Amino acid sequence: MVHAVYPGSFDPLHNGHVDVIRRASRLFDRLTVAILHNPLKSSALFGIDDRLAMVRESTRGMANVDADAFEGLLVDYMRSRGASVIVKGLRVISDFEYELQMAHLNRQMNPDVETLFVMTATRWSFVSSTRVKEIAKYGADVAKLVPPATQRRIVDRFGAAAIRRDDALRVGDAEGDGEGDAADEDERPVGVGEGDVRS
Ligand code: PNS
Repeated sequence: MVHAVYPGSFDPLHNGHVDVIRRASRLFDRLTVAILHNPLKSSALFGIDDRLAMVRESTRGMANVDADAFEGLLVDYMRSRGASVIVKGLRVISDFEYELQMAHLNRQMNPDVETLFVMTATRWSFVSSTRVKEIAKYGADVAKLVPPATQRRIVDRFGAAAIRRDDALRVGDAEGDGEGDAADEDERPVGVGEGDVRS
């Protein structure tokens, strides 16, 4: 049985993440979405419980997917769960530099763990948690970019400004690359270099 882990901050979960989860869940027997939790030093917008709930609610139909939180090194967490594959999403070249470094270091620390990359679906290649938060903070609608479980919490957090629009796309709406829904993972938006924050 191959147990894969998709790690990240998921602050918040967006459609790109959901797409990677869905696609990776078809490749492995089991997929754990592992949310980095640093209780002592966190600048996260959403607490770990909210982030776990976003993942759980958004993956309800995916039988082999679960959500968990972890602290410390990812490779230690992998060992503790008996998992052998790290799944990461890749959007653009700038993501690759960051991810390559992580993959090498993780492999050096635990050669039994492989990192595999899922390419972001075109539809979501510009979406990042950082930008979702920024857009929401200024009161614009992010319903096209995030699953309903995230949208609800964003509305709770930022108020009615982060409105639901009638024409907002939802996960599963038919538009874009034909893959159905969300695309990829992480944070750095297209064309943004090293100085920017990934999540
Ligand atoms: O969504 P993010 O913020 O890009 O996710 C980054 C994450 C959580 C995957 C990464 O920071 C991580 O694995 N953190 C745990 C600490 C660790 O193992 N660091 C890698 C050392 S090479």
